[in-house]
Amino acid sequence: MRRRLVAGNWKLHGSKTMVNSLVSDVINGLENEARTEVAICPPFVYLQQADSLLTGSAVRLGAQNVSAEIEGAYTGEVSAAMLLDVGCTYAIVGHSERRALYAEDDDMVGRKFHVAQQAGLTPILCVGETLEERNSGATEAVVASQLKAVIAAAGADGLAKGVIAYEPIWAIGTGKTATPQQAQEVHEFIRELIRQHSSLADQCRILYGGSVKPDNAAELFAMPDIDGGLIGGASLKAGDFLVICNAA
Ligand code: 13P
Repeated sequence: MRRRLVAGNWKLHGSKTMVNSLVSDVINGLENEARTEVAICPPFVYLQQADSLLTGSAVRLGAQNVSAEIEGAYTGEVSAAMLLDVGCTYAIVGHSERRALYAEDDDMVGRKFHVAQQAGLTPILCVGETLEERNSGATEAVVASQLKAVIAAAGADGLAKGVIAYEPIWAIGTGKTATPQQAQEVHEFIRELIRQHSSLADQCRILYGGSVKPDNAAELFAMPDIDGGLIGGASLKAGDFLVICNAA
C-alpha cells in the first residue's frame, strides 16, 4: 500500500511572519498523520526557519528546486547537500514553471533528479502537457519523453523510488482541474511506463497537481493511481491545505 503524500508548493510567496503562522496552523490542524504524509516546500530562504518550526512534527520539508551541480563556481545555485543540511526530505524538480520560464530542459531535469537522489533527497519530478499538446492528442508522448529523460539519468528503479507529480500545465493556477478520470488515465499511463522498465512501479507515488482545492481533492484522491497531491495556491491558506491533507 502506497502511503499518500500531500505537498504544498508555496512558489514565490512568503515572509518570516507568514512562515510562523502557516507552519504552526498546519501542524496543529492535521489529523491522521500516520496514513498521509504531509510536506511543505517554502522558498529556499525560509527552509531553515520552517525546519525549526517543524521539529517534533511529522510534516516534512521540501525545496522547490535544486542545483544539478554538486558544488563549485555556480553563483546563485543551492545544492542537494545544502538542502539536506537544512532539513529537507524532498526537492521538486522540473516544475513546468521552471521548464517554461527558466529554460530547464529534459536533460537538466534528469540531472537534477539524479543528483538530488544520490545526495539522499527524494526528488518530486513534475511532468505534464500544455493545452495545445492535450488537444492534439500528444499528452502521452509528452509525458513519456519527460519520464524517459529521467530514466536515462537515474534508471527506471531510480525514477520509481522518487515521487512523480502529474501537473497538466493548463490546470496550474487556472482553476481548471483535470477531471478525476482525465488524471487517472495519465497516472495509469505513467505507472505502466515505469512497469515496463522496473519492478518497483507499484511502489511509486504519483501525485496530481493543478488547481487542487478543498472541494475537488477527495474525488481526485479516490482514483486508484492518484497517491496524493502537489498543491500550489491552496497550500498558502492553512484552512484549505488542511482540508486537502485530511481528504487524503
Ligand atoms: P495550483 O494548485 O495553484 O494550480 O498550482 C499547482 C502547482 O503548480 C503545484 O506545483
